[in-house]
Amino acid sequence: MSGKKARIAVALDVNQLSQALRLVEALHKEVDYFKVGLELLHAEGTPRVLAALQSAGAMLFVDWKLHDIPETVKKAVQAIAPFEVPYFNLHASTGRTSIHAAVEAAGKSRVLGVTVLTSLDDAECTEIFGAAADIKVPQFARTFVSLGGHAIICSAKEAQLLRNMPELDSAELWTPGIRPLWAAARDQKRVLSPADAVRAGADVLIIGRPITQPPGEIGSPVEAAKRIRAEIEEALAA
Ligand code: C5P
Repeated sequence: MSGKKARIAVALDVNQLSQALRLVEALHKEVDYFKVGLELLHAEGTPRVLAALQSAGAMLFVDWKLHDIPETVKKAVQAIAPFEVPYFNLHASTGRTSIHAAVEAAGKSRVLGVTVLTSLDDAECTEIFGAAADIKVPQFARTFVSLGGHAIICSAKEAQLLRNMPELDSAELWTPGIRPLWAAARDQKRVLSPADAVRAGADVLIIGRPITQPPGEIGSPVEAAKRIRAEIEEALAA
């Protein structure tokens, strides 16, 4: 167990800025960060979305998942520098020079590295990267942090493994693929419950549909977030 207070980043996976702003308004007391990703950034335009969400007081994580050559990564990061977003990410498998370029251009933003997407099972991870997630995630994480990356994105299933690596001591673990027992896994494969994720050492739980589209019996997004917060606190107190 991490012993720290685990935080929640809610995924604003919607295609209208107005919907995202309503979620920020409803959830800002229940969660710590708002994650904005490709759907909304492409639908409404990156500068407009970042400006509006920051004006609404949202602490932003830009889930960009950059995976490109160093010069393109550098230019993309420089393009959003004026917004000074607290967090953005890129794929840790994008190559050492691109990671270095992102960290150099990041200014005050903290850079997160996506190791292996939580939508991949071991068979597909092996097909793409040549080995299972418990091999590739530590390898990508070690390289990413050695190049100045600040935090690692992985499944909470790998959190314990990474917490046992002293070279990653300074890196926070941000974990998507979070599924309370009452929520459907859908396209996510390497999933864990909020309680199990924080017990494994996750620092920030990235949660989308269980909060933004909760099952009818759970109620509203606010009720879903409160229920998840309670599950996290109970697990950390045990
Ligand atoms: O709805 P759900 O809880 O599955 O949403 C998870 C969010 O986290 C999505 O926005 C997805 O793009 C993002 N994400 C992920 N796996 C990663 C990095 C980000 O699922 N490795």
